[in-house]
Amino acid sequence: MDDPTIGATLVSSEELQARIAELGVTISRDYEGKDLVMVGVLKGAVLFLADLMRHIDIPCEIDFMAVSSYGSQTDSSGVVRILKDLDASIQGRDVLIVEDIIDSGLTLQYLMRNLGARDPASLEVCSLLTKPERLRVDLPAKYVGFEIPNEFAIGYGLDHGQRYRNLDYVAALVH
Ligand code: IMP
Ligand code: MG
Repeated sequence: MDDPTIGATLVSSEELQARIAELGVTISRDYEGKDLVMVGVLKGAVLFLADLMRHIDIPCEIDFMAVSSYGSQTDSSGVVRILKDLDASIQGRDVLIVEDIIDSGLTLQYLMRNLGARDPASLEVCSLLTKPERLRVDLPAKYVGFEIPNEFAIGYGLDHGQRYRNLDYVAALVH
């Protein structure tokens, strides 16, 4: 796309696909014999979940949640509203939250508490990206694709004003 808002490449398409294949192998091994439900967080995690699940070779289900965090366009507040809840119960099941990016960690902290209260057998996080410099809460994500610098990222599911999700790589937004 010829668009001056799309800045430097943070993670190329080749890097994404290679790492996602690795994550799929690791998750398939770790959840062998378990009752895996992958919960994609709409909308940003859609591309990541779709590619990740192609590399999962054990039985698994997918479900989705949509949340909105009150705050400015680039800063979340930690006050989260559920726009779409899971379709099915997760009680006694092995839940893996699949996220696009952990920024402050506040959205995920809320999701962990909310889903944790539903009595799953286990609850872990797989985030494609993290920004370690921005993390404000103690949030151990078991699976992480890439650590990126403190820049606003777009592409591969990540949006700015709902655009750029269709890029097949992750770029920095030019403000
Ligand atoms: P947090 O609550 O601050 O961790 O923010 C989490 C959510 O904000 C993510 O799931 C994204 O939807 C969005 N977000 C945070 N950082 C970025 C970014 O760099 N680009 C696009 N969306 C982002
Ligand atoms: Mg978002």
